[in-house]
Amino acid sequence: METWDAYRSRRNIRDYADRAIDDAVLERILDAGRRAPSAFNSQPWDFVVVTGRDALTDLATVWQGARHVARSAATIAVVTPVQPDPDKARWSEFDLGQAMMAMAVVAADQGVGSAHALIGDQDRCRALLHLPDTHRGAYLLALGYPAAGPLAPVESLDRRVLTDVVHHQRW
Ligand SMILES: Cc1cc2nc3c(=O)[nH]c(=O)nc-3n(C[C@H](O)[C@H](O)[C@H](O)COP(=O)(O)O)c2cc1C
Repeated sequence: METWDAYRSRRNIRDYADRAIDDAVLERILDAGRRAPSAFNSQPWDFVVVTGRDALTDLATVWQGARHVARSAATIAVVTPVQPDPDKARWSEFDLGQAMMAMAVVAADQGVGSAHALIGDQDRCRALLHLPDTHRGAYLLALGYPAAGPLAPVESLDRRVLTDVVHHQRW
């Protein structure tokens, strides 16, 4: 897929076909996250890949808005070191967002739908994923082939119009 088409095809897909994701496709998605840029190249991420219906059903309980995780073919939990420094924490959050977006766009390029989820219950997330105390779960990226059919570029997206968002030379 052209980059522009893959980018325009990405949107939150929360219903998935009953189809596994090939290891090579999953690895490419994960590698996209690994390759993401980060402040000082700190790479403040680890990715825990969860597959298997029971494990996904459990993981879906870490946040009220994560129910789609239970239906996914695989979900990537993005894990980050606990960061006490507020400046570094802010940079890390930006970096994590870039890694998430890279994985979502490369997933779309491979025909795989994705959907974010926040993590509310850190204790449960830590217990389910066996995270060390030094780390916390940051975000989940649920993955699966869309139940509604193949992804295609979205022409008309529910976004503010470009002329409203872009300012030339000054506000
Ligand atoms: C930081 C972040 C957290 C999000 N958390 C959730 C979530 O917990 N559950 C969910 O269903 N969607 C979540 N979303 C998805 C957004 O609701 C979605 O991206 C937005 O509505 C735009 O829709 P689109 O991605 O389909 O274009 C999250 C998105 C981001 C960027």
